[in-house]
Amino acid sequence: MTQSVKAYPFLGSNQEEFIQSLKNSVVPVPIIFATQTQTCKQLANQLARYFQSGQIKAKIIDVAALTPEDLAGPFFVYLTCTFFMGDHPKSALQFVGKLRENDPVWAEAIKSKYFSVFGIGSLKYKLFCKASDELDAKFTELGANRVMRVSRVDRNVPQGYEPQFQEWMKDLLDNMGIDKVEESQSLYETKVQSKYPFIAPPKNYFWCKLLERKQLSDNVVDGIQHYYKFELPATNPYKAGQHIAIMPRNHRQVMNQVFQNKIIYLDDECKQLAEPEQLVKMNVLAQEGSNLPLSNDFYSVWDLIAQYTDLHSMVNQNVLALLAQFARDENQQKELKMLGDTAHSDLFQKKFVQTPSKIGDLFQSYNSLKIPLHRFLEIVPPMRHRLYSIASSPKLIGNQFLELIVTDVQWDGINVKTGETVQQRGLCTGFLYELSGQLQWWALEMLF
Ligand SMILES: Cc1cc2nc3c(=O)[nH]c(=O)nc-3n(C[C@H](O)[C@H](O)[C@H](O)COP(=O)(O)OP(=O)(O)OC[C@H]3O[C@@H](n4cnc5c(N)ncnc54)[C@H](O)[C@@H]3O)c2cc1C
Ligand SMILES: Cc1cc2nc3c(=O)[nH]c(=O)nc-3n(C[C@H](O)[C@H](O)[C@H](O)COP(=O)(O)O)c2cc1C
Repeated sequence: MTQSVKAYPFLGSNQEEFIQSLKNSVVPVPIIFATQTQTCKQLANQLARYFQSGQIKAKIIDVAALTPEDLAGPFFVYLTCTFFMGDHPKSALQFVGKLRENDPVWAEAIKSKYFSVFGIGSLKYKLFCKASDELDAKFTELGANRVMRVSRVDRNVPQGYEPQFQEWMKDLLDNMGIDKVEESQSLYETKVQSKYPFIAPPKNYFWCKLLERKQLSDNVVDGIQHYYKFELPATNPYKAGQHIAIMPRNHRQVMNQVFQNKIIYLDDECKQLAEPEQLVKMNVLAQEGSNLPLSNDFYSVWDLIAQYTDLHSMVNQNVLALLAQFARDENQQKELKMLGDTAHSDLFQKKFVQTPSKIGDLFQSYNSLKIPLHRFLEIVPPMRHRLYSIASSPKLIGNQFLELIVTDVQWDGINVKTGETVQQRGLCTGFLYELSGQLQWWALEMLF
């Protein structure tokens, strides 16, 4: 680990002491997050990985589960958002309540510690980032030492909040006297390849089986409609009139484009190509609180990409800016950078808005991209489920069978490489159309 002590606006002469205390501490740095819609949890994960690359041990903690003992080390980080007209997310209300009443146990745990607060919010609201401002002031009032200025990130800027967060993380490490270093530990463990790897369903989803598909109408008036009949596990009954959520997977053709162009790698230098059948366990994401179910098991590279990233979502400027750093061809890098820069929104509009392209198609034209698997999972938006009205009644066809009527989403797109018109299918309706009797994901929780 290299060290370079940076100018330090808040700690002044305490800077050396802070860095020394971090070095001597055996307690992992608590990265506490308070969230309502998961952004701060995702950011906490990213920060933990960033700390790890600077060889700092960290522990991600949901504020709802935080105890004074968790603050035993010299330093803690708090990531929060603002909700409900300037208040804290619900999960933080108990902790914040204790601080507001100057609870002596919490006051003692916080006193003379070093801290940094990250805040995200939206300028569309009157009380912008009030929760982070309040805690930054409260920790200081209780005698803790601010390591750097509280961040106040507006999530609605055109570039998205990600670049602002990256900047904040970099500043934080700088202020901790640490240059980001290459990871010394192996990022991934790999296992023998398998053509038929097992993958557990995402949390709260279960398997079901497609029994029958029939086309109900042609494309003349109302578009193409399909009838689907599924078999459910006996443990998952339903009622007529409810909805069911289907978690689709990326279409095979889009997946093949990614692998044919050799985009994804198993190391930070991108020397070890990630093969689709390879089973991996990502040490880098094996963090408490990780959003992906990766912590303890091996998954095939194919399944991770097919199930957890949405390659069909539309290209946006933030994705282009993030991808630019991974292009090996100088011209491709320049172009991606420019298209991702909000100062050149007109060029972006011309290229991607007038002729919409999905993220998966980028890898055809920007084929010099080489991206470590864990970064790929962070950059490409996560897969989301689709809701469908259940068309059957279990009283008529039995609890274990379920029917849907699905209108196919189709449109004419443009092949970005050749300029030819190609027919495109909606992600979920196309996925259902591709199914051929194998087990697939369904959401149980979403029935209502
Ligand atoms: C409560 C509820 C119940 C529902 N019930 C049903 C039901 O019973 N049956 C049913 O069929 N649907 C139903 N839906 C709709 C369903 O959830 C999906 O939205 C729908 O099937 C489309 O999903 P998809 O993944 O195929 O399309 P997506 O891939 O999500 O396609 C839409 C996206 O594709 C792109 N796109 C689409 N058309 C074009 C175009 N012409 N040019 C460029 N880009 C385009 C756009 O980015 C758009 O956001 C329901 C929705 C809700 C909320
Ligand atoms: C109902 C609602 C109320 C919000 N109120 C505020 C607010 O008062 N001030 C603010 O800065 N941001 C406000 N926001 C923006 C959130 O703080 C922002 O979306 C944040 O990224 C959420 O983080 P999370 O995903 O970790 O919960 C509000 C968002 C919603 C949906």
